[in-house]
Amino acid sequence: MDVREQLTGHLTWLAELGIDGVSRDPAWRRVPADDAATASRPAGAVPGGGRGEAAAGALASIRADLGDCTRCKLHRLGRRQIVFGVGSPGARLMFIGEAPGRDEDVQGIPFVGRAGQLLTKMIEAIGMTRDEVYIANVIKCRPPENRNPEPDEVASCEPFLFRQVEAIGPVVIVALGTFAAQTLLETQDTISRLRGRVYHYGGAQLVPTFHPAYLLRSPERKRDAWEDLKLAKSLLDQAAAAAAPGS
Ligand code: URA
Repeated sequence: MDVREQLTGHLTWLAELGIDGVSRDPAWRRVPADDAATASRPAGAVPGGGRGEAAAGALASIRADLGDCTRCKLHRLGRRQIVFGVGSPGARLMFIGEAPGRDEDVQGIPFVGRAGQLLTKMIEAIGMTRDEVYIANVIKCRPPENRNPEPDEVASCEPFLFRQVEAIGPVVIVALGTFAAQTLLETQDTISRLRGRVYHYGGAQLVPTFHPAYLLRSPERKRDAWEDLKLAKSLLDQAAAAAAPGS
């Protein structure tokens, strides 16, 4: 793909999101302190420095505790493998979805199907990459026919998600869809009611937004999702500015 095609693709995506202009606000272009650290990080080092290394160890131990999980019925309902999570253990931004679908079940990686490709574009639209965030689901095994997870399945699986969040210690969590938002916020409210505001989960600020699979079916809501992502990015930038020396 040449540069012109790449640019056309990027601008088409921004237009799809309902973005009709480019901000001249210098803050939008500023490289946050963590990004600068990424540029000078030696090969093989864990993003987030010592914090990232500790988180990587904690994540490995959570994964080991999960084992070849048979705690709920999903293990005998056709799952191929457990889909634990992907990304940087030192991530300041974490995305949490519902449960793996068919592609994720095959590859063992969250959000790699069509909804995942949209999520990747959403991450890139705020100037970040999948490598520097962490992505996980409430449920680690694919429910048959992609049905909604059932309460006993959530009860068995959510402690592992909660431990992942604690290990990573993100500054901001984006809850993707009703299911993730309801689980983290312990509410029955729908995503349409929840989105547009900042909540708290543990030490993180939590921004609920529409699930990418829903956005594929309802592209008119992409504009709202873009507002939510900008909100999440601004919370990250504010936290980085507050933590910068001399601030
Ligand atoms: N939908 C989700 O909620 N999670 C995935 O990993 C893929 C699709």
